[in-house]
Amino acid sequence: MAALAALRDEGLVTSRHGSGTRVAVDARRRLPRTDPSLALRRNVVAEAFVDPNAGAIDLLGASVEALPSIGPALFAEAMADLGPHLSHSGYHPFGLPELREVVAAHLAHRGAPTRPSEVLITNGAQQGLALAASLLLRPGDTVLVETPTYLTAIDLLRGTGARLAPVATGPEGVDLDALREAIERHAPAMVYLVPTFHNPLGTVMPASTRRAVAALASRHGFTVVEDEALAELSFTDDPVPPPIAAFAEPGTVLTLGSTSKVLWGGLRVGWVRGSDELVRRLGRLKTVADLGSAVPSQVVAVRLLRDLPRYQRERRALLIASRDAVVAELAEHLPSFDFAMPAGGLSLWLRLPCGNASELAQVARRHGVAIVPGHLAGPDGGHGNRVRLPITRLPGELGEGVRRLARAWEAYQPTAERRRTALEVLV
Ligand SMILES: Cc1ncc(COP(=O)(O)O)c(C=O)c1O
Repeated sequence: MAALAALRDEGLVTSRHGSGTRVAVDARRRLPRTDPSLALRRNVVAEAFVDPNAGAIDLLGASVEALPSIGPALFAEAMADLGPHLSHSGYHPFGLPELREVVAAHLAHRGAPTRPSEVLITNGAQQGLALAASLLLRPGDTVLVETPTYLTAIDLLRGTGARLAPVATGPEGVDLDALREAIERHAPAMVYLVPTFHNPLGTVMPASTRRAVAALASRHGFTVVEDEALAELSFTDDPVPPPIAAFAEPGTVLTLGSTSKVLWGGLRVGWVRGSDELVRRLGRLKTVADLGSAVPSQVVAVRLLRDLPRYQRERRALLIASRDAVVAELAEHLPSFDFAMPAGGLSLWLRLPCGNASELAQVARRHGVAIVPGHLAGPDGGHGNRVRLPITRLPGELGEGVRRLARAWEAYQPTAERRRTALEVLV
């Protein structure tokens, strides 16, 4: 009654004795207009793109520089391939046919036989996810996401008006029992997973779990969106299981991929693999969104993807060097921070011995280093004692970043320990 009275006072509803209460005709105009971009300020990685924070070492984004062998000479050479395209409008909403072919061949090599018509070229995996979300989700739908997960996926998915429900994930990928329970409880429209070199865990979902996830999608009628943006980033020669799509009925899985991590994010070339029908629908959405990706980037991507194994080896060597450098710095300066060695990918998922990573992040800022506190990677506010540390910076910069973080920890540790003692007394 009190709430209705307050709404009446604001003129948002009108009540007439005997005929109930109705939303006022002009209520929409009276609602305060919020700026949806403000909600994105929680995402410190995206925020640093918008407002780079000078002076601090940025240990935020898990992004890489172009491989040293991808230099101006390679771009100049690739531009010769542009010739035949210049007599066409250049609008290819599904992507250049020759790029769709090399991506299809790459996916077949990964164990998911693919025709070029089942590939849509996108501006990075990020656009693939945005298109998938706008195709599959309506406001109020539920999407299941792992916790932790890729933090910018959380913001993108929330932006569709969908509700996000967390599912536990660990060294063996998504927890199947938790997934089954969440499916029963929420009847999701979509399940978003990062099966290969998970961001931030660096883990790989085994083939048996992929098969089980694919079977659940068929049985329950949701679509799996598997984000394979990091799938080319193995640290070892161990075989990587095929994408979930390889185990699934056509039309139940969309597979996202990217050149960003193995080659260079600046290309902005990624892809979505799906059934012909889903790719056609996504292509319609992409046409309206941007009329197609840039042709020069796609021409370069064709060349690079034809030689992918060579570039994968080059990226692996660089990532292993950074990882080893950061692991050595951590052992020396932050030995109480614990982590599991990842099988691949771009980050370490550090566990603090005590305290809260959000608070540590604030202290770290004052010591000239920006870090991602773990709770940002969960849709549920968990992971408060975790930090996602990228291993993508040059070893020297990473080392200085870790040393600054160690100084911040030294300053923050007494507060963290006082809290722990207070909690122990309470318990
Ligand atoms: C899991 C995951 N998906 C997608 C992206 C976005 O990649 P892209 O540059 O291909 O849009 C990232 C980047 O960090 C990522 O880690």
